[in-house]
Amino acid sequence: MSLRTLIYGVGPIGALIAKYALKKGYEIVGAIDIDPNKVGKDLGDVIGLEEKLGVIVTSKPEEAFKPRRPDIVFHATTSWLDKALPQLVLAIKNRVNVISTCETLSYPYYRYPHIAELLDNYAKSHGVTVLGTGINPGFLLDTLPAILTLPHIRVDKITAIRSIDAGKRRKSFQKKIGLGLEPNTFMEKLSRGELTAHVGYAESVLLMASMLNVELTKVEEKQEPVIAEEEARTEYFEIKQGTVKGIKGYGIGYIGGKEFIRIEFHAIVGANEYEEIRIEGEPSITWRSTGTQGDMGTAAVIVNLAPRVVEEEPGLKTMADLVKASYIHA
Ligand SMILES: NC(=O)c1ccc[n+]([C@@H]2O[C@H](COP(=O)([O-])OP(=O)(O)OC[C@H]3O[C@@H](n4cnc5c(N)ncnc54)[C@H](OP(=O)(O)O)[C@@H]3O)[C@@H](O)[C@H]2O)c1
Repeated sequence: MSLRTLIYGVGPIGALIAKYALKKGYEIVGAIDIDPNKVGKDLGDVIGLEEKLGVIVTSKPEEAFKPRRPDIVFHATTSWLDKALPQLVLAIKNRVNVISTCETLSYPYYRYPHIAELLDNYAKSHGVTVLGTGINPGFLLDTLPAILTLPHIRVDKITAIRSIDAGKRRKSFQKKIGLGLEPNTFMEKLSRGELTAHVGYAESVLLMASMLNVELTKVEEKQEPVIAEEEARTEYFEIKQGTVKGIKGYGIGYIGGKEFIRIEFHAIVGANEYEEIRIEGEPSITWRSTGTQGDMGTAAVIVNLAPRVVEEEPGLKTMADLVKASYIHA
């Protein structure tokens, strides 16, 4: 499918999305970023291609939409929907669909119910579709386990765990999980919002529940640092003994007093990489992968779903609107 696309946020993820968009034969008609090191440069140079693309990265979003209207914006600037809102509103105002890696947009009704309602109405009135997705949240710990329930007649509990070697991830990821920080500094920065670590535990739980048509009575999430027992280093950070070498976190969805959904994300330097999904019920099955590369996976999810988003009915969507295959909770 031929698509005109605009890259909004040319960080590591936006850059990979741009590369994959070209591989899929999509056209890139604009690129927006605020980083002075990227603004004014050809997108091909910014994302490390050997050829120029004839698209100059601009910090003036209004201008990027003008020359040729894109069919869809590939949005990758922030984890927080309130921060992303003006960027999304601008795309919608220009009658352009949006697919975004913004974690809190993957299930926006949890943290930002009012913004979600506003966005849905605004998107509908402008005839465009908005979707937040990615690898996690968006696929591995929500959509995938929901699909895997299809061959079950009864489900009592779903546990989904993703473990990654944080040392193999991009610098911005290693920074946001606080590698090399003193544990106290980590906790302070996390509580002040200066560090995000992983965003989206509750979103994954609620997204999965909405796919299964299950009403949860309570959702909780928590994450904490994992402390290095010996020195380690990554390409970007030195990790002294007693400092942070990763994070472990979880999200739980309860029905009554019982855990029905449990998701865990472990991002630790040197950890084994895998996803494991356990479905207890009739029958009980455990699925295990050899690990999914998150950055590549995120960019692939975005470009693969782009044509579906363009064709989808207008409004604010979640993966539950696009993927409909699971067991029936009765
Ligand atoms: N759902 C998922 O599975 C998933 C997976 C991977 C990543 N993500 C999320 O996707 C986002 C992008 O990831 P990343 O690693 O590429 O992040 P990043 O390193 O922070 O890059 C974001 C880029 O967008 C720019 N930017 C920030 N605010 C902007 C604005 N208002 N207008 C234009 N450009 C702006 C940044 O410029 P400055 O550097 O100057 O701020 C930077 O160049 C992050 O929020 C990340 O958490 C989600």
